[in-house]
Amino acid sequence: MKRIGMTTAMLAFLLIPVLLVAGPQSKGDPQAGKTVYDKKCANCHGPNGEGKPALAKALKVEIRHLGSKEVQAKSDDVLAKESSEGVGKMGPVKGLTEKDIADVVAYIRSLKKE
Ligand code: HEC
Repeated sequence: MKRIGMTTAMLAFLLIPVLLVAGPQSKGDPQAGKTVYDKKCANCHGPNGEGKPALAKALKVEIRHLGSKEVQAKSDDVLAKESSEGVGKMGPVKGLTEKDIADVVAYIRSLKKE
């Protein structure tokens, strides 16, 4: 009996994160989004979304942290559009599939500062 109890507990323990990840906001995959981000965005936005100060200075623009309140307040649709088509002094990013865009938006969500 004890053993079955343990197995059930272990299963629940393993399943909870899976259910959380596959929960309501399962539109994009943040893990896959990080791969896209590292390839296509990190050059300008820094490894963790903090923005490259040198680039901001060169462009004379503020690059907000992608986890900041201001950026996180934008809807997924807006983030998807800006991430692919660009915004302000950011030009369009080439070679992104629809899935890449959804994934990268999920990744941006994961950068949210508490
Ligand atoms: C060539 C450099 C460059 C690349 C590559 C780039 N960005 Fe940007 N991005 C910028 C700059 C500069 C801004 C600020 C634009 C402005 O405010 O005029 C910006 C702004 C943004 C914003 C709006 C932030 C805000 O303050 O509201 C989002 C979202 C964003 N980028 C996402 C992405 C994503 C996702 C990628 C990769 C798919 C990406 N960017 C690739 C330079 C870049």
